[in-house]
Amino acid sequence: MNDDDWVRAMNAISEVVMNRPLPLRAFDQIYMRAGDMVQQAIRVGNWAQGQKVAFIGDGDGIALSVAVLVNLGIIKKGPERIKVFDFDERIVNSVRRLANKERLKGVEAELYNCLDAFPEKGAFDRFYTNPPWGESNEGNSVVVFARRGIEAIGYRGQGMIVIADDPELEWPSKVLQKVQAYAIGRGFYVASMEPMLHGYHLPEAEHLRSCNLVVGSVQGTARMHAEDTIEEARLTNFYGRSKEPRVKYVRDRARPDHDRAIEQDYTLEMWENLR
Ligand SMILES: C[S@@+](CC[C@H](N)C(=O)[O-])C[C@H]1O[C@@H](n2cnc3c(N)ncnc32)[C@H](O)[C@@H]1O
Repeated sequence: MNDDDWVRAMNAISEVVMNRPLPLRAFDQIYMRAGDMVQQAIRVGNWAQGQKVAFIGDGDGIALSVAVLVNLGIIKKGPERIKVFDFDERIVNSVRRLANKERLKGVEAELYNCLDAFPEKGAFDRFYTNPPWGESNEGNSVVVFARRGIEAIGYRGQGMIVIADDPELEWPSKVLQKVQAYAIGRGFYVASMEPMLHGYHLPEAEHLRSCNLVVGSVQGTARMHAEDTIEEARLTNFYGRSKEPRVKYVRDRARPDHDRAIEQDYTLEMWENLR
């Protein structure tokens, strides 16, 4: 990418960032940093060229980032279809809002909780997920999101799972092992793993990075397992320690000026009162 393209790309991603609702830490929403989003969007766009892609939870806004970079011609050929499934209506509405404003073709969003059955099984060729990373539940939360992704592609195709990767810590390697074993058990193999790629707006763990783990189906072996019902054990510490999933949907309080500060956020100190 030349300097000119880099500036155009950053400006487009800055629209995506401004359009994101503020993250709710109670549900592990922790957003990716802008420079990393540009690189991630280019990777995902190229990986999913001409494909139908389901994004299972996408607070980061990678689906929109891919679409705006395709619009600019920075990604030469993008996916045929992009659909975001998220339980946060603010995110669903933010996808629809920017897709409308920028006339992004083939971009959709639906309110969906991954504890429910997946509504469009087999309708996609690729899935992408950046789930709750499963530090306190040995990766069970990642497995729930990955399972929905695998259903979205009907056990045929590829999925990109974005999760923690830090060789200095023990838990990310345990989660990576669990997720890989899960995917292999369903007839998938690890097609690639790009380590320590992305940083996040996470002040208490600035160093923490995530990787792109890509799994692909092995023809004739991909299959559903009996234990794939989502039992209670999978839900313990879902969003972190003692944070079980009790909320079905986060509802939006839509307001037309979503990209401006609201009065509750600040007070004004008037000149006349200071004299
Ligand atoms: C949990 S966050 C993980 C961190 C990621 N970097 C982010 O902030 O988007 C991923 C996305 O999953 C969504 N999500 C959380 N719980 C969900 C659920 N039960 N069903 C569907 N989506 C969910 C969140 O709203 C968010 O957009």
